[in-house]
Amino acid sequence: MPVITSIDDLKRLYKSRAPKMFYDYCESGSWTEQTFRENTSDFDQIRLRQRVAVDMSNRTLATQMVGQDVAMPVALAPVGLTGMQHADGEIHAARAAEKFGVPFTLSTMSICSIEDVAENTTKPFWFQLYTMKDEDYVRRLVERAKAANCSALVITLDLQILGQRHKDLKNGLSAPPKLTPAVIADLATRWRWGLGMLQTERRGFRNIVGHVKEISDPASLMAWTAENFDLTLDWAKIAKLKEMWGGKVILKGILDAEDAKMALKVGADAIVVSNHGGRQLDGALSSIRVLPEILDAVGDQVEVHLDSGIRSGQDVLKAVAMGAKSTFIGRAYVYGLGAMGEAGVTRALEVIRKELDVSMALCGKRDINDVDRDILLVPEDFAGRWQR
Ligand code: GLV
Repeated sequence: MPVITSIDDLKRLYKSRAPKMFYDYCESGSWTEQTFRENTSDFDQIRLRQRVAVDMSNRTLATQMVGQDVAMPVALAPVGLTGMQHADGEIHAARAAEKFGVPFTLSTMSICSIEDVAENTTKPFWFQLYTMKDEDYVRRLVERAKAANCSALVITLDLQILGQRHKDLKNGLSAPPKLTPAVIADLATRWRWGLGMLQTERRGFRNIVGHVKEISDPASLMAWTAENFDLTLDWAKIAKLKEMWGGKVILKGILDAEDAKMALKVGADAIVVSNHGGRQLDGALSSIRVLPEILDAVGDQVEVHLDSGIRSGQDVLKAVAMGAKSTFIGRAYVYGLGAMGEAGVTRALEVIRKELDVSMALCGKRDINDVDRDILLVPEDFAGRWQR
């Protein structure tokens, strides 16, 4: 058993164990990947202020997200195709999250269905919704999430059209993978993955297949989104979805103060400042860079979360210190899942917790809810001087 001390260790192991096609899917941004890169490099620009001779005993990371208790300000983000990174991946990730005490968000584009995850967990999870042209299907999807006792609906607003990630096209990404000679050669070195996949029947998009009438290629994320996602999504439709759901709603994909104000108007319980991990609009600013502007616009009226670029507990601390109530991680837990299944997700969460806790203590704080901008050193020009 390798000694895992960092998220990078999990990433290395994941790369050696998961098929190239799915590693590339996870580890890509759109087009030039500028936004994907800056999501992490912008976190590196922010430094921490060390303080000494302060009481470090009795520390706590516990807080709340949309009124729900969480063990630390981290939720597992919705990630498509998670059940291709490791057999039954969504179930493993959801189990790790519930044992750890953080929310798990199931993607519409998951392999395991809402029902699969509900049957194999004991606590409510969150469901992420993509809006589709087929309103009846969306209504049924929302009803299924309600029936499964999901405790928040996360509506993704930045993916009516799928951003182009070159590698997915070159690899012929599909779930399950089509067995071309190149894929067979790759899978020959990924025996653990193959064994797991042979032992499960969950190998397609189970929130979709069997729940809609006609799909031209049920294995292709690209084909499905191009044919079915609702290009006409607007704030009025989002308000209707909120009414249809009737519970907590988190609007994900906000990157502009004007949109944050609109999210407030439709009654979001929380917003997620996010550029979809750099996978959608290449050239957009990193989430951490736009966070202050969005907090200035709506921060006193709605809970503001952040995703895109979080790879460590120090990143979580920086986001919270900048004013985010909480964060979401995507890749950081997928690395763990692809490396070691449920144990790997747990390990990723443990690594992040330890980094967060120790860094918070060395900055002179004992309670994550007391952490503020005071612990940070932010470059003077961090917000940038942009002309509109
Ligand atoms: C889907 O959400 C993706 O980013 O591929």
